Amino acid sequence: MEMIKILGFTGSLRRDSYNKAALRAAGELLPDGAILEIVDLAPIPFFNEDLEAEGVPQAVVDFKDKIVAADALLICTPEYNYSIPPVLKNALDWASRGKDSPLNGKPAAIMSASQGLFGGARAQYHLRQVAVVLNLMLLNRPEVFIMSAAGKFDQDGKLIDDYSRRAISNLLVAMVDWTRLLKKK
Ligand SMILES: Cc1cc2nc3c(=O)[nH]c(=O)nc-3n(C[C@H](O)[C@H](O)[C@H](O)COP(=O)(O)O)c2cc1C
Repeated sequence: MEMIKILGFTGSLRRDSYNKAALRAAGELLPDGAILEIVDLAPIPFFNEDLEAEGVPQAVVDFKDKIVAADALLICTPEYNYSIPPVLKNALDWASRGKDSPLNGKPAAIMSASQGLFGGARAQYHLRQVAVVLNLMLLNRPEVFIMSAAGKFDQDGKLIDDYSRRAISNLLVAMVDWTRLLKKK
């Protein structure tokens, strides 16, 4: 069967980010037949229509190319003040521009890690709202919320919580099935 290429990214730029660590865990937990590439959103400048008119920045061109090349997106979002962080929204805003947005119709799944007790749930539902206009084909379930994240990763950023590891594994299996289903069309 054809390999499913997943592109993962997060709105956290923090070196020791739990969301980055959760994406790395996803890379270890992939089912057969899938690969994950993680892209760093740090080089993407703040969206500005003037900048866009002068020529889309190379970091944005590269990001959009990676989305085109991917069969599916895995977004792991922190929660900032009950919503998604600006870094993530900014990247999605850039990628949404133009007649041929690579986000249009792209299968995607989301998860979140947060130091709070809700595990980033509120940010996920804001992201789901944005996904409507982007026409991302978001997987509904399973939902993965890594709450109280500080206790779930070791000092090297390895996810050591069995429940969360199982939840991510289940998400990835469902995500690959979902992507294959949509690719059949
Ligand atoms: C500006 C800001 C706002 C935050 N707001 C929330 C919030 O609304 N809910 C929550 O659970 N955590 C919130 N946090 C805490 C984050 O969950 C925590 O910083 C987490 O580690 C961020 O993800 P990261 O580890 O991937 O960087 C906030 C953090 C920042 C910096």
